[in-house]
Amino acid sequence: MAPSLFILTTLISFALFATFAEEAQVPAMFVFGDSLFDPGNNNNLATLAKANYFPNGIDFPEGATGRYCNGGTVVDYLSNLLGLQIIPPYNNPEIKAHDMLQGVNFASAASGILDDTGRFYGERFSMDSQIQNFGRILEELSSVLENRTEDYIGRSLFFVSMGSNDYINNFLLPISKTARLYAPESYAELLIHEYRRQLKELYDLGGRKFLIGGVGPLGCIPNQIGNSPNASDTCVESTNILVLQFNTNLKVMLDDLNRSLRGSYFLFWDVYSKSMEIITDYLRYGFKYPLTACCGAGRSKGQIICLPVLPLECQNRDDYIFWDPYHPTARFNSIAAEVAYNGTLQPSFPRNAMQLALL
Ligand SMILES: *[C@@H]1O[C@H](CO)[C@@H](O)[C@H](O)[C@H]1NC(C)=O
Ligand SMILES: *[C@@H]1O[C@H](CO)[C@@H](O)[C@H](O)[C@H]1NC(C)=O
Ligand SMILES: *[C@@H]1O[C@H](CO)[C@@H](O)[C@H](O)[C@H]1NC(C)=O
Ligand SMILES: *[C@@H]1O[C@H](CO)[C@@H](O)[C@H](O)[C@H]1NC(C)=O
Repeated sequence: MAPSLFILTTLISFALFATFAEEAQVPAMFVFGDSLFDPGNNNNLATLAKANYFPNGIDFPEGATGRYCNGGTVVDYLSNLLGLQIIPPYNNPEIKAHDMLQGVNFASAASGILDDTGRFYGERFSMDSQIQNFGRILEELSSVLENRTEDYIGRSLFFVSMGSNDYINNFLLPISKTARLYAPESYAELLIHEYRRQLKELYDLGGRKFLIGGVGPLGCIPNQIGNSPNASDTCVESTNILVLQFNTNLKVMLDDLNRSLRGSYFLFWDVYSKSMEIITDYLRYGFKYPLTACCGAGRSKGQIICLPVLPLECQNRDDYIFWDPYHPTARFNSIAAEVAYNGTLQPSFPRNAMQLALL
């Protein structure tokens, strides 16, 4: 993108997204995750997992950026609620150190906790490489922030959500090595063991305030419903059971980290329960179509990914929970971000991202 165009689109997105942005509540937000949060980190990688084409971004000021969505992701909305600018992608040569002062987004489509996850798609930044990339950025930031770096990183929000692809693009694949090697319980244990090490590494690099998103009800995404042998359009129970196991272990692990790592806050966001509530009670949330994708094809529009050649039949994207076979719409994301920001994620203080920011 030419620099002038870049500045122009940045200004437009600022105008649209910063309507209620106040003073920033945290110095920065650093994001680690998969395609649910990827702002275009895969655009320049040799991979099938990229989304920088129409109709993705149809409702986003900058158009098709690489986001798997019609509009903004959860972290776009969350950054707005926290009074931050849109967090820029790590893998964009146009982004310089001073653009990163409010944070960097390392999320990469097809990636997982395990390095192997998503390999079928080609290149991607696994959780381990996202942490390495953060280490690189930290060096650049230190050269600008000097002796304020530790304080700045310690007060920043670390948003991490991983694990979906370790199921969808690993354990649940038709020919899966991990499914042959591990029972569901021991696979969840393996993931949590690795994830714990990774989160500890972020702590060792200076992270203190962590908001960790659990895995959502993967059995209810149009991809799972559309490809299930069960002809009825209901959530795939067996997939949801796998996810619940992972989330249960994750919560225990985070409580333990929160206790054992001095000065740390690990806030678990139970994405599963809230998403299930919205899917079940979709009319109350203003949705018309809970389990079918807006852009896609086949059963539940979940069997073929969102492509430019497909007719986009859903005129009103806000009626849908799912944008494509795997990812929710911007409207769902905005609801989810508000829950994370000022809902009740846990019974005691800090209850949500807003209170985590205050600490
Ligand atoms: C950083 O260095 C400056 C100049 O040496 C000093 O005045 C300031 O107190 C230092 N700040 C911290 C947080 O150490
Ligand atoms: C198939 O659908 C029926 C009807 O909704 C449901 O009761 C059943 O549990 C489903 N079977 C599986 C394997 O998900
Ligand atoms: C995490 O630890 C802090 C104190 O460091 C505490 O205030 C908070 O409630 C703990 N969170 C959980 C989930 O136990
Ligand atoms: C949460 O924040 C949103 C957006 O700022 C606001 O509309 C809503 O009233 C807030 N809810 C609570 C419970 O503070």
